[in-house]
Amino acid sequence: MKGLFVTLEGVDGAGKSSHVEWLAEHFRARGRTVVFTREPGGTPLGEKLREIVLHDAMHPETEALVMFAARREHVEQVIRPALARGDVVISDRFTDASFAYQCGGRGLPEARLEILEQWVHGDLQPDLTLLFDVPGEIAQARLGAAREPDRFERERMDFHTRVREAYLRRAAKFPTRIKVIDGSRSPEEVRAQLATVLAAL
Ligand code: TYD
Repeated sequence: MKGLFVTLEGVDGAGKSSHVEWLAEHFRARGRTVVFTREPGGTPLGEKLREIVLHDAMHPETEALVMFAARREHVEQVIRPALARGDVVISDRFTDASFAYQCGGRGLPEARLEILEQWVHGDLQPDLTLLFDVPGEIAQARLGAAREPDRFERERMDFHTRVREAYLRRAAKFPTRIKVIDGSRSPEEVRAQLATVLAAL
């Protein structure tokens, strides 16, 4: 079987994590082996870089470079081997997050990131990206006071609004790959939307 690369995206609090297990089960029920992974992270080195990039202050370009450094390991060690085995790889975030957060949120030019994208995974793109979209107020309310916020979750509302808009611009640019899921609906309604998208795969 051919490998399938699925990525999950959205602003913090969009609810993508709530549907991961359901999504994995969807593929397992069809006889597929599912590899679940995340960014930043996904490898031992990547998880160390995650700790640094989520908690240490740094220049926005350093932030982008660390994201792509972690991604370089992730692509090499986890994503490519799994796809070569014919597995379904579900990654909680990938390069669309860099365009949304580092370009949309922090204001880096997209041309810079396009160079890094080409360098790190020029010939590899997700087959399907599920973009969980919710208005900033809902996302913030969901994040609530559940735990200690990281550097991104601590950002002001206008940052999250820019991230959301950048995600939606990417969805408009790559409509075949990126499917927008209305994450403000009930979990059942979100699942129905996911089922419709997956049925068309
Ligand atoms: P995430 O794993 O969704 O956080 P959580 O464990 O809190 O659900 O993502 C961690 C943060 O990293 C998130 O705020 C978005 C940010 N991020 C970027 O800014 N750029 C990137 O390229 C990636 C992959 C994540």
